[in-house]
Amino acid sequence: MRIKGSNILVTGGAGSFGRAFSFDLASCGARIFSCDIDAEALAGIRDEAQSQGLGIETFQADISKENQVEGLFNKIVEQFGPLDVLINNAGVAEDGLLIKKENGGYRKFSFSQWKKGVDINLNGVFLCAREAAFHMIRQGSGGLIINISSVSRHGSFIQSNYSATKAAVVALSVVWAKELSGYGIRSVAIAPGYIDTPLTRKIPEKVRQKIVFEQIPQKRMGNVSEVAHAIRFAIENDYLNGRVIDLDGGLRI
Ligand SMILES: NC(=O)c1ccc[n+]([C@@H]2O[C@H](COP(=O)([O-])OP(=O)(O)OC[C@H]3O[C@@H](n4cnc5c(N)ncnc54)[C@H](O)[C@@H]3O)[C@@H](O)[C@H]2O)c1
Repeated sequence: MRIKGSNILVTGGAGSFGRAFSFDLASCGARIFSCDIDAEALAGIRDEAQSQGLGIETFQADISKENQVEGLFNKIVEQFGPLDVLINNAGVAEDGLLIKKENGGYRKFSFSQWKKGVDINLNGVFLCAREAAFHMIRQGSGGLIINISSVSRHGSFIQSNYSATKAAVVALSVVWAKELSGYGIRSVAIAPGYIDTPLTRKIPEKVRQKIVFEQIPQKRMGNVSEVAHAIRFAIENDYLNGRVIDLDGGLRI
């Protein structure tokens, strides 16, 4: 698929990855629909895109709410025409031990925290993919769904819901490739390892050093531009389907 002239929806568009994907693809000539729950951050993106003369439209929506997701896709398709690519990128890390030793007792990981991660990282991905597929099938011009997973899909310490949801979106990428290829719609996942972003900069320096020098063969975290490069590859290579691209510098958990 050609990037130039494509209509691409990026969820979590105001975050580190979403922002990088949006500006990278817009500078290649795509029209970007950047969706996020954070209205203030979206306004910043809109201003910056305007000042650079880039085609980035912004939309506030909560991807875990069915009516908001349906409204978002209807609005985009009605106003701007066929949707070519969905980048299912919005995600949160709601971390904690399953059982934590605390104050001489044991504290359970809260069910509400579990559900928050599942609501955004899994239910949100499902809702957006379902709407994208619905519109793409009716348009009849094919398309692509890209789900952002993580190296944590293999199971990471203190990341019950994050690991489970990031493994699930890889499985869903296979399911959707099988179900949607007949309509000319591909479905792939990208699973980044540690990428240098505000999220990973929160890791205590000592732990960060240990990760970089003892776990990552390349001895560095990845750059957001390297993930954006994988997105471009996924869009442009029409034979990539039902697969996950592990982008982790050789890290294995
Ligand atoms: N940063 C990394 O190293 C890394 C590594 C592997 C995978 N990932 C994944 O990449 C994706 C983006 O990560 P990031 O580092 O850019 O995170 P980020 O926190 O910078 O961006 C996430 C964005 O999602 C938005 N969002 C949260 N809940 C939402 C909702 N309900 N509806 C709409 N938008 C919502 C947030 O407002 C935020 O702008 C996530 O799925 C994350 O799990 C990140």
